[in-house]
Amino acid sequence: MARHLITSALPYINGIKHLGNMVGSMLPADVYSRYLRQRGHDVLYICATDEHGTPAELAAKEQGLAVDEFCAQAHDAQKAVYDGFALAFDYFGRSSSRENVEITQHFARKLNENGFIEERAIRQVYSPADSRFLPDRYVEGTCPHCGYDKARGDQCENCTRVLDPTDLINPRSAISGSTDLEVRETKHLFLLQSKLQHEVEEWVSRHEEDWPQLASSIARKWLNEGLHDRAITRDLDWGVPVPADTWPELAAEGKVFYVWFDAPIEYIGATKEWADATGGDWKSWWYDVDADVRYTEFMAKDNVPFHTVMFPATELGVREPWKKVDYVKAFNWLTYYGGKFSTSQKRGVFTDQALDILPADYWRYFLIANAPESDDSSFTWEHFTATVNKDLADTLGNFVNRVLSFSRKRFGEEVPAGAEPGEAESRLGEEIARLLAEYEEHMEALQFRKASAALRALWSAGNSYLEEKAPWLEIKTDKDAAALTLRTAMNLIHLYAVVSEPFIPATSQAMREAFSLTDDTATWVTQEEAKSLSSVPAGTPFTVPPVLFAKLTDEDLAAYKERFGGQEA
Ligand code: MF3
Ligand code: ZN
Repeated sequence: MARHLITSALPYINGIKHLGNMVGSMLPADVYSRYLRQRGHDVLYICATDEHGTPAELAAKEQGLAVDEFCAQAHDAQKAVYDGFALAFDYFGRSSSRENVEITQHFARKLNENGFIEERAIRQVYSPADSRFLPDRYVEGTCPHCGYDKARGDQCENCTRVLDPTDLINPRSAISGSTDLEVRETKHLFLLQSKLQHEVEEWVSRHEEDWPQLASSIARKWLNEGLHDRAITRDLDWGVPVPADTWPELAAEGKVFYVWFDAPIEYIGATKEWADATGGDWKSWWYDVDADVRYTEFMAKDNVPFHTVMFPATELGVREPWKKVDYVKAFNWLTYYGGKFSTSQKRGVFTDQALDILPADYWRYFLIANAPESDDSSFTWEHFTATVNKDLADTLGNFVNRVLSFSRKRFGEEVPAGAEPGEAESRLGEEIARLLAEYEEHMEALQFRKASAALRALWSAGNSYLEEKAPWLEIKTDKDAAALTLRTAMNLIHLYAVVSEPFIPATSQAMREAFSLTDDTATWVTQEEAKSLSSVPAGTPFTVPPVLFAKLTDEDLAAYKERFGGQEA
């Protein structure tokens, strides 16, 4: 059985992320990792903050902090939010780590030895008003391909095309807005990606059939445009230094690697950080492992070119057997009322604010159930509150509380015995087993919306069974019949606790802890167990947990919309 290496795109250090970032990378990676762990797989889920580059430098300056200090604080602030979301990383590292510096420099030396790096003098945009060279993304202007007027010099956010700052129409400094821009000459390292075009093409063509359409189409588009040699160094203070043993002159000038060169290498770097912290074997996940490890990456669509083409090109050019991605799970955008979530314009909901309002499980469930998988999807407070009320509060939460409270009231604090299972129970068992198989199938296929629908159907099946049997009527005529219904329903609750864990871990734990089972080590439910619904035997003591999900009122809805501005941009 292959081991599973899982990474989610490294969140940029600058600023707390919004819900759109969360649903497009870390959250689904966490749900998938949790699922695989529960199924008994050996899983390593790695993420980290992406710390280098100009935005970090500028944000530090704005806060009057040294950039390393700023990053240390910002890393901890992000980590706290991810803990709040119950993201169960095996390690959450930092791309500025010593480990990443070492591996990045190693990659650069190898690429150089293999003839894939060349020193070139380039002409670079210099802004006298800012008295500095402007990194690509700090030149803004109009995209020559689609006309978007806030395109950045590295990539157009609107059409995802990769750009060079000199491609932009009407360029200006993103720092000062100055249009008085000069071009000056300076030396940089270039990664000769054009020499790797064929190899990357060959590699992509071996994988793209397995990848989701969104990932393979973007990779194809990029390859068809041709791989261009790219500068992989910058004139910045903050970054992985160019190694002096190989490039003394550039090192003396203080050049560092471009953030997009060292960031994906941090997937490996963070694994080494994990190993250094825990005594794990990092190389066994990355080096010369082939089919022993299945590597799945999670990211939003703007990240796809870097992960399907550019990072693989780097790994291929190193000429060492580094593990390359097997499956690329890419997401479209989550919009806010049809418009962009925007960090700079403070539109939408940030992950820290979300946790201020409601516990993580509300968000985890809603976001995954509405993940922008095949298309963009829109966040609205109306949709959010309606989903919470219907699926979480009514279908799941109310079922749990109703069954347990009623049983306690009529039969006391132990699971009642009652009659032997009959026809209704065997029908229910069949249905549950079928839905569970469906749920598993969608999870294995990383189809998160479909998996959510199957999970919801499992919860609904309990409600239908309860309505059909109506223990509140049975109790009047046949106590044993009522007891059977309640015992069966309690078994469903325990099954829900186990299988809902990837989506709503805290609630799952509360459901599981309602039962004092002596040896409750179940991490999954077999088809047989689903059919027989008898893992929680009569006589098991139980408690009634507090209401699992609060129902959100019209006043709540109005307050959220008021606070966050709930309407089209
Ligand atoms: N920080 C980048 C972003 O937010 C993602 C980096 S992913 C990795 O878009 F490849 F660098 F790891
Ligand atoms: Zn464009």
